[in-house]
Amino acid sequence: MKVTLSVIKADVGGFPGHSSVHPDVILTAEDLLEEAREDGKIFDYYVGHVGDDMILVMTHDKFIENPEIHGLAWDVFKECAEVAKELKLYGAGQDLLKDTFSGNLKGMGPGVAEMSFEERPSEPVIVFAADKTEPGAWNMPLFKMFADPFNTAGLVFDPSMHDGFEFEVHDVKAHRKVRFRTPEEMYDMLALIGQPGRYVIKSVFRKSDGEVAAVTSTDLLNQIAGKYVGKDDPVMIVRAQHGFPAVGEVLEPFAFPHLVQGWMRGSHNGPLMPVAFRDAHPTRFDGPPRVIAMGFQIANGMLEGPVDMFDDPAFDRARELANAVADYMRRHGPFEPHRLAENEMEYTTLPEVLKKLEGRFQPL
Ligand code: F6R
Ligand code: MG
Ligand code: MG
Repeated sequence: MKVTLSVIKADVGGFPGHSSVHPDVILTAEDLLEEAREDGKIFDYYVGHVGDDMILVMTHDKFIENPEIHGLAWDVFKECAEVAKELKLYGAGQDLLKDTFSGNLKGMGPGVAEMSFEERPSEPVIVFAADKTEPGAWNMPLFKMFADPFNTAGLVFDPSMHDGFEFEVHDVKAHRKVRFRTPEEMYDMLALIGQPGRYVIKSVFRKSDGEVAAVTSTDLLNQIAGKYVGKDDPVMIVRAQHGFPAVGEVLEPFAFPHLVQGWMRGSHNGPLMPVAFRDAHPTRFDGPPRVIAMGFQIANGMLEGPVDMFDDPAFDRARELANAVADYMRRHGPFEPHRLAENEMEYTTLPEVLKKLEGRFQPL
């Protein structure tokens, strides 16, 4: 059976500030998706959250970029934004950039990761969601999962993965894309994806048969809006096992809390901390940036799960290191490299401050 997995997220209001999602907002989304399930629009759903971002996980048979599914998500977010407004939650409706829905969520504000595939005899998938960072944050973990044999033993040992994978990389500033085959073009790809503010891995395919392995959300909210409206906190879907990286190989990159862009005011570098669902509310300096992993088995289109994959003492050391790195970075205060480099500050609120200083400069 061909099933489509749609993961669609938005920040429709924070509680308090930009830290979490109010339970009433989650309940509203669950009620509406339950109705959609009863009406046969979707097979199944799960509503989660990381920080101030609500995540709708939906399965259906309508393929990707389907107007009915995108419209459903839009209606859910709209309704949730109303609840958020009544409760005067912070930034209520902040990610809903347009008034009317016109068939596709592209450019509307919410982030979307979707894939359609023939369900395997057993179909494990991991849905990742991160807050206080941006889609380029997935570059390093995806590279490790699908191209680094020191992370993924299957690249060496499993004949069905041994050929490697193909990556689609988006240049989100020049709005163009390019494909790389690994391992043979690994160095070319690294030349780009090492700059995650501009080059973002959109999807990964198995080379031997073109089967989709991973998809991320890449909508650059701040650029869509033309002014700073918060980082476009990203989601990602990864299929696991039997010709894809094992679940443990999919999670392993997050044992290293790499530095990502985002954190306070979308203007700082900080470590990406893997956390259990219960810890998915960034508080210290609005952070540090964090990531959750929702483990599902898809069975005839239904979602079994999620299992809270980072709720494991094996990730305690990553969290400790993230805390140590957070201390170290914080001591730089407003200085680089805690603060982002100039070209990355373009869409924050900093240009407004700089404009005021413009008239005071004298030639050297
Ligand atoms: C980062 C984020 C927060 C806000 C910060 C200021 O992505 O959402 O760190 O940037 O709390 O928010 P405002 O400007 O709304 O007071
Ligand atoms: Mg927010
Ligand atoms: Mg957020």
